[in-house]
Amino acid sequence: KKVVLAYSGGLDTSVILKWLQETYGCEVVTFTADIGQGEELEPARKKAEMLGVKQIYIDDLREEFVRDFVFPMFRANALYEGCYLLGTSIARPLISKRQIEIAREVGADAVAHGATGKGNDQVRFELTYYALQPDIQVIAPWRLWDLNSRTKLIEYAEKNQIPIAKDKRGEAPFSTDANLLHISAEGKALEDPWQEVEEFVYSRTVSPEQAPNEPEYVEIDFEKGDPVAVNGIRLSPANLLAKLNELGGKHGVGRLDLVENRYVGMKSRGVYETPGGTVWMTARRGLESITLDRGAAHLKDELMPKYAEMVYFGYWYSPEREMLQAMIDKSQERVTGTVRMKLYKGSATVVGRKSPFSLYRQDYVTFEADQVYNQKDAEGFIKLSALRLRLLELAKQHQKG
Ligand code: ARG
Ligand code: SIN
Repeated sequence: KKVVLAYSGGLDTSVILKWLQETYGCEVVTFTADIGQGEELEPARKKAEMLGVKQIYIDDLREEFVRDFVFPMFRANALYEGCYLLGTSIARPLISKRQIEIAREVGADAVAHGATGKGNDQVRFELTYYALQPDIQVIAPWRLWDLNSRTKLIEYAEKNQIPIAKDKRGEAPFSTDANLLHISAEGKALEDPWQEVEEFVYSRTVSPEQAPNEPEYVEIDFEKGDPVAVNGIRLSPANLLAKLNELGGKHGVGRLDLVENRYVGMKSRGVYETPGGTVWMTARRGLESITLDRGAAHLKDELMPKYAEMVYFGYWYSPEREMLQAMIDKSQERVTGTVRMKLYKGSATVVGRKSPFSLYRQDYVTFEADQVYNQKDAEGFIKLSALRLRLLELAKQHQKG
């Protein structure tokens, strides 16, 4: 038996590694993805080697993550429950997809992950595994073992010579997940939703209070719905998002404190920082406002919550998500142009937009005299629109008497 483990190099997945070897007597292959979490990956290799792993995969997936996952999701303007930019949700299908590819390469019959049995992540990992490799065996140690407390986990680590980072000895104050799109924090110190989050929880944004007193302007160019340049400089997808993170973070943009509904049924409180994504999403909407027809824009907006739910629940590789994606991508054919954003103390505001495909017509909308629009046409338009409302009220008045 051979298992491919999604391995971060942290305490939890190191304990899982050892536990898999002991429990199943199997060979464990580790896979660590760089998706822009901003951590050194060499220590993960060292640790895996120390724990006797022979096949160690460490892959830089940053460009693929932004280009093939974040880009299509942003075309939908996807927000879960009105607020959450889905930073963790969108990374899981990529990690799982690569894990399955590796399982095929090394001839493994099982895959394992470190998500708990209470959360969304287990669902996202496993739906992807099964969608791509229907006969794969899945091992989710958190649902199997009895190491159900921090103390037991640390005891197990000490007994098995698994190195424990100094700060992990004391209770870490919350659980985080990070990638190029966002960093999230939840659990433990954050579990009381009435308690305001303390400043030390935030790591990618300054507080709006501490942000510069001078606003900063940023221009973003889009082609067919995707951002391609910042301030006139063309950047690869991952570099572009990194640049927007830097700009947004400096101005305190993109903080979110949210109580959300998990797929498994309970509510949880999450704290998110998505500086670049927030600037990007706001700018996209600014560009769509001049390039999308009203019918297309409104239909897209109606379907967006459905799309966001699919991503949040883990159905990236599903026919329904692909159907909506095809529709959304079709809508983006003329979403090309430039948006000027103003960043200032926690806000990102659209202050200018232009496009070669703009549908905005000053000659129609002007308050000055025009040659193109006949104001008299509006009279019949309104009268027929009002017809059913008038008939309804007439009937009411009539039937009262
Ligand atoms: N609540 C968010 C989501 O479901 C973030 C999950 C964070 N995951 C983690 N392993 N800390 O997308
Ligand atoms: C976990 O339970 O592993 C993290 C939180 C989540 O998946 O929702």
